[in-house]
Amino acid sequence: MVPSPLVEVRNVSKRYGSLTVTANVSLTVDAGEVLGILGPNGAGKTTLFNIMSGDVAPDAGAVFLAGADITKLPPHERCRRGIGRSYQIAKPFGGLSVYENVLVAALFGGRRSGREANAVCAEVLELTGLMRKANRLAGTLTLLDRKRLEFARALGTGPTVLLLDEIAGGLTDHEAQDVVATVSAIRERGIAVIWIEHVVHALLAVATRVIVLDAGAKIAEGEPHAVINSPQVQRVYMGVDVEVEVGA
Ligand SMILES: Nc1ncnc2c1ncn2[C@@H]1O[C@H](COP(=O)(O)OP(=O)(O)OP(=O)(O)O)[C@@H](O)[C@H]1O
Ligand SMILES: [Mg+2]
Repeated sequence: MVPSPLVEVRNVSKRYGSLTVTANVSLTVDAGEVLGILGPNGAGKTTLFNIMSGDVAPDAGAVFLAGADITKLPPHERCRRGIGRSYQIAKPFGGLSVYENVLVAALFGGRRSGREANAVCAEVLELTGLMRKANRLAGTLTLLDRKRLEFARALGTGPTVLLLDEIAGGLTDHEAQDVVATVSAIRERGIAVIWIEHVVHALLAVATRVIVLDAGAKIAEGEPHAVINSPQVQRVYMGVDVEVEVGA
C-alpha cells in the first residue's frame, strides 16, 4: 500500500459571494520537503492556509493529515495534531516577552508540560536567533525580530508541518537569507514546510517544489526554477512587482 502523504489538500474550493477564492485546489507535502506557494496578490494563498489550519471551512473538498480527514476539526485540534502556522499579519502578545510568547505557543498550542515547554522555548529561540532577545517585550521588536517571533511561535507548537505566510516580506536581502537558513534547518529536522512568499529568490533558495496560484486556481507545479521560468507563470507575473530572477 502506498503511504499517505503527510498533508493532502484534495479538490478544495471556497467562494465569498460571487468571488471564487479557491478553485478545486489539490496539493501534497511530505517530511523533508519545502513546498513554495507563489501567486499574485489576491490569488488565494492565505485562504488556502486558512483552509488547512481550520480558520476557514471550505465549500468543497477535504484536508488530510497523515491519512486522517481533518476537514471538520477546529484549529486548536489541528494544531495539536501537528499543523503549525504563522500569520501574514503577526499577532504577538505585545505586552509579553519574546520568551513568554513562545511559551504560550508551547504550552497551549503544543499542550506540553511546563518543563517540556521550557525546553522547547530554548530550542526554538536558539533556532530562530531570538535567544538574546528573550526578555524583550514583543511589542518593542523590529520588523525582522517580529518575523522571527512569528516563526518561533509557530515552531513552538511542535509542528510536523509548518505553514509560513510571507515570513520574509519587507525584509532586506540579507535578512531574508537569515529566514532561508532557518527554514533549511527546520526541514533538516524532518518538519515539512509550506511557504507562501513573494520574495522569489528566498523561495528558490530552499524550496524543493513550487506551486503557483492565480485567481484561486493552481496554474503550475514542479521544480522551482522550471516553474518560475514557464511562460504561463511569466504571463501571470508580467507587470507585477515581484522579485523574480529569471534564469537564476
Ligand atoms: N473573509 C473574506 N471575505 C471576503 N473576501 C475575502 C475574505 N478573505 C479573503 N477574501 C478575498 O479572497 C481573495 C483571496 O485572498 P487571500 O488573502 O487568500 O489572497 P492572497 O493570495 O493571500 O493575497 P496576498 O498576496 O495579498 O496576501 C481576495 O480577493 C480577498 O479579498
Ligand atoms: Mg496572503
